Amino acid sequence: MPTVLITGANRGIGLELTRQYASAGWDVIACCRKPKEAGELTALKVEVKALDVADAASIKTLATDLKGRSIDVLLNNAGILGRRIGFGHAEPDEFLELQRVNALAPLLIAEAFVAHVTASGQKKIAAITSGLASITNVNDAASYAYRASKASLNMVMRKLDYDLKDRGIVAAAISPGWVQTDMGGTDAALKVEDSAAGIIKVIAGLDAAKGGGFFGYDGETIPW
Ligand SMILES: NC(=O)c1ccc[n+]([C@@H]2O[C@H](COP(=O)([O-])OP(=O)(O)OC[C@H]3O[C@@H](n4cnc5c(N)ncnc54)[C@H](OP(=O)(O)O)[C@@H]3O)[C@@H](O)[C@H]2O)c1
Repeated sequence: MPTVLITGANRGIGLELTRQYASAGWDVIACCRKPKEAGELTALKVEVKALDVADAASIKTLATDLKGRSIDVLLNNAGILGRRIGFGHAEPDEFLELQRVNALAPLLIAEAFVAHVTASGQKKIAAITSGLASITNVNDAASYAYRASKASLNMVMRKLDYDLKDRGIVAAAISPGWVQTDMGGTDAALKVEDSAAGIIKVIAGLDAAKGGGFFGYDGETIPW
């Protein structure tokens, strides 16, 4: 069976992606910051690994630990929202922390795991972005730091697709919609099950023609 590595797998969309890939028979390498506190995840009986995506050393340690394993889908899900602050309230450390977790980490993870993905059958790198990354649509929630971090992530994914094409790797950014999780809140439009099922379908349909794209969980292309 193919293998998927998922970051931020202990709760929210990452936990549901883990559940659905595992029930479809995939080998799941489920990563989270604190495996000992990830009760719901460990109950799924998947392989759980420690990974803090904000820590470059943690990324390298895991890549070394998994040396020789092939990873069909490298799924960058871990992310942070920060405060919803508008114009006049920019906070430098918070802005940079969002860039570190949401945009830099998927790049470092791609660099660390490129050999694992190249060795696989499917050769896909995906990242969970946000509709708020769209530079075309800036007319709702403020969140400068979050929007900018996910727009950075989109560029990282598009450039990865371009740079890794000759290794047969396809990369894409997928928005999960507004989802009922700790981040999305209870008023969110989508159940986590539906968002995760959509994301998995979009990843399954990724091919060279779709590489470098920005898609919704429903497969629709989102304007940059
Ligand atoms: N929910 C939505 O409506 C929505 C909309 C658009 C995009 N998204 C994106 O979807 C992804 C998942 O969001 P969610 O709604 O499931 O959020 P969530 O419920 O807040 O879960 C976030 C996950 O990311 C992990 N994480 C955060 N920082 C990390 C780090 N440094 N290292 C490793 N893991 C880290 C968290 O782990 P801990 O438990 O250790 O904190 C948690 O597992 C994120 O990228 C988010 O930006 C969500």
